[in-house]
Amino acid sequence: MRTDLSGQRAVVTAGAGGLGLVIANTLRREGADVYVCDVVPEAVHSLPDGIFGSVVDVADPEAVDAWLVPIVSDGVDILVNNAGIAGPTAPIEDITTDDWQRCLRVDLDAMFFTARRVIPPMKAAGKGVIINLSSTAGFLGMPHRSPYVAAKFAVVGLTKTMAMELGPHGIRVNAIAPGSINGERMDRVIAAHAKSDGITEEHVRRMYTLGVSMASFVESDEIADMILYLTSDHARSISGQLLAVDGHTETLYPRGFSD
Ligand SMILES: NC(=O)c1ccc[n+]([C@@H]2O[C@H](COP(=O)([O-])OP(=O)(O)OC[C@H]3O[C@@H](n4cnc5c(N)ncnc54)[C@H](O)[C@@H]3O)[C@@H](O)[C@H]2O)c1
Repeated sequence: MRTDLSGQRAVVTAGAGGLGLVIANTLRREGADVYVCDVVPEAVHSLPDGIFGSVVDVADPEAVDAWLVPIVSDGVDILVNNAGIAGPTAPIEDITTDDWQRCLRVDLDAMFFTARRVIPPMKAAGKGVIINLSSTAGFLGMPHRSPYVAAKFAVVGLTKTMAMELGPHGIRVNAIAPGSINGERMDRVIAAHAKSDGITEEHVRRMYTLGVSMASFVESDEIADMILYLTSDHARSISGQLLAVDGHTETLYPRGFSD
C-alpha cells in the first residue's frame, strides 16, 4: 500500500498527547502539514517540526473557531476528531450533571464544532476526509460509563449522517472504534473501574481481555495506520462506516466476572 500526503493539510484534535500524537506523527511522516490542538501547553509547545500546535479546549466553540478558521482559510484535506475524555466511572444515579455534560461536550459536541468549520472549504474543493474517534463503547453498552457510551454511540449516528450529507461533495466520513489501547489512558480507566467496582486492577485488566476474541489490547499505531489508510485513495469507496480495530470485542462487561 502506498500513501503520500505531501501538500495535504490535516487537523487533529487533542493531538499533542496519547493516541492523537501518534496519529499526528503518522500523518506528518507521510508528508502532511498537521495542525493539532490540546489543553496541555507543555505538550503543545514541544511538538516536532511540521506539527503546528495550539492550546485549545475543544469543548469551547469560540476557542475552536479562533483556532480553526485561520487554518481552514488556506484549505483543509483531513480532519481527525480524536479528542475524547473517559468521563466519570459511576452508577448513573451518582453522576453529576456537570460530569455528564462535560463528557458529552468533549466527546460529541466538539465534533460538531470542528466539522462545521472544515466542511465549507472541503465542499469548495470537492474532496476531503473526516474521521471521528468512537470506541468499542460506541456499539456495546458498559455499566458505570453511561455518558462515555452515550457519546460514542452518538458519534456513530453523527458519522453516518455526515457521510450522507457530504458524500455527494466527494467528502468521506468514517468512525473508528479502537479496542483497549495499551497506554496511560487505559491504565487510568482500569484504575477507576477497579475503584468503582471494589476489585483489583489486575482483575479488571483480565476482564477487558476476556471479552475480546483475540484476548488482547491494541497499540496506538494500529489505529493510526487505519486512519492513514482511510485518508488514502485506497479507501476511496469507504464512507459512513464504523471500523473497529479491536481484536473483535464480544462484550465490554463479561457478566459474573466482576463479582
Ligand atoms: N485509549 C483507549 O484505550 C481508547 C479506546 C477507545 C477509544 N479511545 C478514544 O481515542 C481518543 C483518544 O484517546 P487517548 O487514549 O489518546 O486519550 P488521552 O486521555 O490519552 O488524551 C489524549 C490527549 O487529549 C487531550 N485532551 C483532553 N481533553 C481535551 C480537550 N477538552 N481539548 C483538547 N485536548 C484535550 C489530552 O491533553 C491528551 O494530550 C478518544 O476519543 C478516546 O475516547 C481511546
